[in-house]
Amino acid sequence: MNKHERFNFKGLDDLKEKINSLGLQIPISENLESLAQPVKIGETTIANAISVHPMEGCDGTAEGAPDELTYRRYRRFASGGAGLLWLEATAVVHEGRANPLQLYLCQQNKDAFGKLFDTIIGTAKAEFGQNHRVYTVVQLTHSGRYSKPEGKPAPVIATRNPYLGRNLPEDYPVISDDQLEQLEDYFLEAAVLARDIGFDAVDIKACHGYLNSELLSAFTRDGKYGGSFENRTRFLINIVDKIKDRLGDSLDITLRLNAYDAFPYPYGWGVDRDDYRKPDLSEPIRLLRILADKGVNMVNISCGNPYYNPHIGRPYDAGPYIPPEHPLEGVARMLGIIRDIQQSVPDMAVISTGLSWLRHLSPFAAAGGVEEGWFRIAGFGRLAFAYPQFPRDIFEKGELDAKRSCIACGKCSEIMRDGGKAGCVIRDNKIYVPIYKAGREGKPPIQSNRLAEHV
Ligand SMILES: Cc1cc2nc3c(=O)[nH]c(=O)nc-3n(C[C@H](O)[C@H](O)[C@H](O)COP(=O)(O)O)c2cc1C
Repeated sequence: MNKHERFNFKGLDDLKEKINSLGLQIPISENLESLAQPVKIGETTIANAISVHPMEGCDGTAEGAPDELTYRRYRRFASGGAGLLWLEATAVVHEGRANPLQLYLCQQNKDAFGKLFDTIIGTAKAEFGQNHRVYTVVQLTHSGRYSKPEGKPAPVIATRNPYLGRNLPEDYPVISDDQLEQLEDYFLEAAVLARDIGFDAVDIKACHGYLNSELLSAFTRDGKYGGSFENRTRFLINIVDKIKDRLGDSLDITLRLNAYDAFPYPYGWGVDRDDYRKPDLSEPIRLLRILADKGVNMVNISCGNPYYNPHIGRPYDAGPYIPPEHPLEGVARMLGIIRDIQQSVPDMAVISTGLSWLRHLSPFAAAGGVEEGWFRIAGFGRLAFAYPQFPRDIFEKGELDAKRSCIACGKCSEIMRDGGKAGCVIRDNKIYVPIYKAGREGKPPIQSNRLAEHV
C-alpha cells in the first residue's frame, strides 16, 4: 500500500507520533532560540540561522535584468529577517537560461543587479536597523539540458543520460571540452560582477541536473571532463580556482550541491552503485573536503531532480505523481544526508533543505537540526514564497501561523512548467492566481496517479 499522506497534523505531538510510528529520525526542538543566534562562518557572521533558498521567479526582463516582480519578491524576503538570502539561479550566458525571463548576470545588467542588491540591503536595514546586514549569495548557473532561452528547449548536454530526459536523439551532440573551458570564464566574469556590485558570495550551482550537476555524474563522458572523479569535478574546481585566483578573499565562494541524485549509476551522483535507492555520500564528501581546503566554507545541500523525481528534493502533498513514500520519509532522508555531510565536513557550514512540507511546524525541525549539529543554518524555499515574514514570526512570536504557511500544493512549480512567473498561488493569490490560471488554460491537470518507479 502506498504510504503517501497529505500533511494532517494538528500539532507537534501528532508530528512526533508519526515520526516515531514510521521509525524515522528527525530532530525536533521546542526551543526556537537557536534559530535567532548569529552563525560564525570563517571571518563572516551571519545574523541568524535562517536562510531563504534560491527560487526562480522567472520574472526578469527579456534581457535578464530583475523586473518589477523580482524586486517585489526580494523586498518581501528581505523584510522577513532571514540572515542569509540566497538569490535564485542566474545565468552566466544567454544560451544557458532556463526560460526567456531567467535572470542573467552580465555587464549590460550590472546596474539593475546593483539596484536589486541595494533594495535587499536597504529593505533589511529599514526593518531591522542599520546594524542588520543580510548576507547575500548569487546562484550562478548554466541550465544545460534544461536551457530554453527563447522559450523552446535548446538543450546543452554534458553526457547522454537517459534519466535526465528531454527525449534527445542518440547522436545529440555533447558540449565539447573547449566549450566547457570557455564557460568557466563566463562563470568567472559573472563572479567579478557580483563582487563589484557588493554581493557577499557566489554559488557555483551544482544541483538538480543542470550542467554542472550533470558533469558530476558524467561517468560515461570521454575526455578531461568525464570518467574519473578528478575529471567529473574538474569544471567546478576550475571555476573555484579561477575565481580565487582573480578575486582572492574579496568574494566568498559557495555551492548548492546535489548530494544524492536518486537515479542509477552510471548516471546518478551520490548513489550506491548497486542500489541507487541508497545514497553513497563518499564522492560528495570527497569533493567538499577538496573545496574546504580551497577556502569554500559553506554549502547548501539539495537532492534529486525537479523534472524526474521531484519528491526527493521537495517533499509534497500534491505534485506530478504520488510518491511511493510518506513525505516525512523524504524529509528524513534529506535531513539524514545533510547530517552525515555536516558531520563529515565539520569545517563547512551546511545549510539544510526540504523543511517546507512541515508547514508551521518546520521551525521545530530547523531548531532541532541546528541544536543537534545536523546543520548550521536552516534553509526554507516554498515556505518563503508563501510566508515571507516567517523568520520574523519565529523570532518575535516563537511560532508560525498555520494559515500563512506553504501547503506544498506544487502550484509554484506548475507555474514554472507552464512558462509563467513563479510565486505562491495560495497565499499571494492576487498576483499569482491569474498567472496560474493563464498558464493552466487548455492543459490537463498536472497531478496524476502515476507512481514513481524510483525510490
Ligand atoms: C518555484 C521553484 C523555483 C526554484 N528555483 C530554484 C533555483 O533557482 N535554484 C535552486 O537551487 N533551487 C530552486 N528551487 C528548489 C528550492 O530552492 C528548494 O530546494 C526546494 O523547494 C525544497 O525546499 P523547501 O522544502 O524549503 O521548499 C526551486 C523550487 C521551486 C518550488
